[in-house]
Amino acid sequence: MQQKSDLNFVPTMGGLHKGHCQLIKAAQKFSTTKPGVVLVSVFVNPLQFGPNEDFQAYPRDLEHDCEVASNCGANALWAPSIDEIFPKGPNAHFKVQVPPTLQAHLCGGKRAGHFDGVATVVLRLLNLTKPQVLFLGEKDWQQFIILRHLLKDLDLPVKVLGVATVRDFDGLAMSSRNQYLSQDQRKKALALPRQLASAANGIKKGEIPNLEKIKSYLMQSGLEVEYLEKVDPFHLQPTETNQPLSLLAASVRCGRTRLIDHAFLMTRKPIVAIDGPAGAGKSTVTKNFARRLGLLYLDTGAMYRAVTWLIKKEGVNLQEPSELFKALNSLKLEFLPSKNLEQEVTINGYNVTEAIRSPDVTAAVSLVAAQPPVRKALTEQQKAMGIDGGLVAEGRDIGTAVFPGAELKIFLTASPAERARRRANDLRERGFRVPSLTTLEEQIKERDQIDSTRQIAPLTRADDASEIVTDGMDIEEVVQLLVELFRNRIPEEVWPTPSN
Ligand code: PAF
Repeated sequence: MQQKSDLNFVPTMGGLHKGHCQLIKAAQKFSTTKPGVVLVSVFVNPLQFGPNEDFQAYPRDLEHDCEVASNCGANALWAPSIDEIFPKGPNAHFKVQVPPTLQAHLCGGKRAGHFDGVATVVLRLLNLTKPQVLFLGEKDWQQFIILRHLLKDLDLPVKVLGVATVRDFDGLAMSSRNQYLSQDQRKKALALPRQLASAANGIKKGEIPNLEKIKSYLMQSGLEVEYLEKVDPFHLQPTETNQPLSLLAASVRCGRTRLIDHAFLMTRKPIVAIDGPAGAGKSTVTKNFARRLGLLYLDTGAMYRAVTWLIKKEGVNLQEPSELFKALNSLKLEFLPSKNLEQEVTINGYNVTEAIRSPDVTAAVSLVAAQPPVRKALTEQQKAMGIDGGLVAEGRDIGTAVFPGAELKIFLTASPAERARRRANDLRERGFRVPSLTTLEEQIKERDQIDSTRQIAPLTRADDASEIVTDGMDIEEVVQLLVELFRNRIPEEVWPTPSN
């Protein structure tokens, strides 16, 4: 499994529908070559069906599957026989055992051996196809998380990307099993997505979902509830607390048909915290990342720079608390988006977008930012700006002091030599005098020292931050890596990537 592959793989059990079509389209979009290399497999895996489940009845119509796959942009469809996948017979084959914690709840708790069967076949399919990316539907969220763990634990060089659940015109989640439903059953089945959606809307208004009430409503609608659980989306363990993101998932029987569905419960939109020393390429990368994902961009460094500019302009004496308090009390800081990714910054009515990048401000900003009253005033403002989430904030203490509950925390850094080179280019581009690389490197080290040793909110990597060292990486590579890390924490269903 070591050679580089450009194959994007969509494994299915057939019965292709609009949900699979989205997977194929996402795989095609992700391809680096045009047209890409998208392979769809159709294999009804006996190992993932229980003795009383619908293995025999599962929809099989290869001609229809070929047509759908081809119309949606697949380059090839592969429908292996049971002998090809399990030459010695399904039960004479080595099996993968999914850790109990990942399958104790939701479907795993009700379908013994199901996920072992899924993991076994997917590993086999991956070994046979050797793709670069595996595309899976978020509809089967537990399967998606289990397979992600499988690939990570076994160090397989395959990326996994999840694609949001696709719903039919009436809101029912697309599934190959929907074709078992009569018209009347289909109407009843709609109670499931409606109840889940109403819980997701409620949580935004601070209402805690009452699981017993939802269950009884589903039962009154003619559905038999197999489970309804609220879990942590990544550890798949029940959660009582109102954490920013949880998963409310259910399985019901409508007649003899088993249907699953879920909703993500979000108390606010996602927050990404990007910290790191000066010159690590934070701003450029963060702005591009924010644009790629449609998040608001909060440059907290610019806020400290703007206050530094004001303090210098008004000649505020930092040693004189009353002068500092007066300046901070009348502070009016505004960020306005502008066309060229650069944010317009105004302070007390002055547009300081360019001025805050001057070497004078750069030289003084660490000292100003180390003043406890400055820190306190700006941290409060930043917290208020992030109250609804939906933003990426960059700075030096975002993950530790400003948004300790951010869904994704990144510590972006680079060697001092690399940072000096980037700083020189930046100064040149902005038309400032460029000191020697040695001087810049010395200044950078000195600034790191002040920032990491100050008493209030020193520059430190949050324990749960992912560190990225950007030496030798170009902007696009870093942005792409950030998007992948974001997607590991935030389902597409919760925060879709804008199509621009
Ligand atoms: O989701 C499915 O269709 C199946 O579980 C999979 C991943 C193709 C494995 O058989």
